[in-house]
Amino acid sequence: KKIVLAYSGGLDTSTVLKWLQEDYGAEVIAFIGDLGQPGDLAETAVKAERIGAAKVVVSDLRERFVTDFAFPCMAANALYQGRYPMASSIGRPLLTQELLRIADQEGADAVAHGCSGKGNDQLRFALAAAAIRPGITVMQPLLDWPLQNREDQVAWARRHGIDVPVTADATYSYDESVWGRSIGCGPIEDLSLPLPEDVFTWTVSPRRAPDEPQRVRIGFEQGRPVSLDDEKLDPVTLTIRLNELGGRHGVGRIEHIEDKVVGIKSREIYETPAAVILHHAHQDLEELTLDRDTLEFKRTVAPRYAGLAYAGYWFSPLRRSLAAFAEDTQRYVTGQIEVELYKGNHRIVGRQSDHALYDYALSTYDRQDSFDHEAGRGFTRIATLPDRIAAKVRHTPVG
Ligand code: ARG
Repeated sequence: KKIVLAYSGGLDTSTVLKWLQEDYGAEVIAFIGDLGQPGDLAETAVKAERIGAAKVVVSDLRERFVTDFAFPCMAANALYQGRYPMASSIGRPLLTQELLRIADQEGADAVAHGCSGKGNDQLRFALAAAAIRPGITVMQPLLDWPLQNREDQVAWARRHGIDVPVTADATYSYDESVWGRSIGCGPIEDLSLPLPEDVFTWTVSPRRAPDEPQRVRIGFEQGRPVSLDDEKLDPVTLTIRLNELGGRHGVGRIEHIEDKVVGIKSREIYETPAAVILHHAHQDLEELTLDRDTLEFKRTVAPRYAGLAYAGYWFSPLRRSLAAFAEDTQRYVTGQIEVELYKGNHRIVGRQSDHALYDYALSTYDRQDSFDHEAGRGFTRIATLPDRIAAKVRHTPVG
């Protein structure tokens, strides 16, 4: 048996890597997907080899992740439950795509991941695989794992020569990519407690952020961010820069009670400065450049799109069609949005677009007003016509 495992270097995937060899007698290929998570992936690869991986494949997926997954969500204004930019959610379909590519290449019979059955991630792997290779076996060993609690798992891992960090970090569970950092478990689970400051590593506390605000001008072309302060940047570099900039000003912390796919409510914490700033700036540019009907319709599509992406239906026909619609609306979403970052806040302080539908002369109340007031009177007469007709017949009482 030959199995390709999505490997992160953490406790869960390390145990799975060992377990698939020991109890299952499989030859395991460890696949490490680089989504821009911090840490030395070469070290992760060495760790996989030490635990017995027959082969280790590291793929740099950062560009594809931002271009084909993160930016399309932004074009659709898709934030799960109106808040969460879905950094973790949209990584899984890409990792699955790559897992399957490697499985094809290596002639593997199955792919595997280290998700427990309680979260959303196992669904995302399974749904993506079903849409791409319906026949493939997706193994989720931690679901069948006999040692269901953390303590037993750690003991088993130690017995099998896997080094488990004993740092305070182990109290939290992290999932990171260039698009954001998700934090779970530990003291966060007690809703009566405020968040401990030590869960955050990308962002400073707004209390300790600089007293001077900082501005950044984001250039968009057809809905895609392309520059910061007129400097052209590739999508990954642009995202990394904005993460740093936002993080320095305490921007991008999100805390909410999230509805997981399986029906559990969970307190979820994210720090995701670039995504938060880009979503805000992009939405503002849309308000400037899109007509009212398109904007209104887009607002009905956004939660549906986010729901599909969150639940793992990335490769579904509906998600694709909604993405095609969102993409088509981006034709004129080109321009510059200036954002001011200050102590956890981000506000728009400047907008420029050659495609702006804003017309000063129509909007202004000063002497340059070019609006046809005569037509305005006519418009009001016609707009009120149906009510006047009805009122004559129905005699609506006053008061
Ligand atoms: N609640 C988020 C989501 O479902 C974050 C999941 C984090 N994943 C993880 N393996 N720690 O998208």
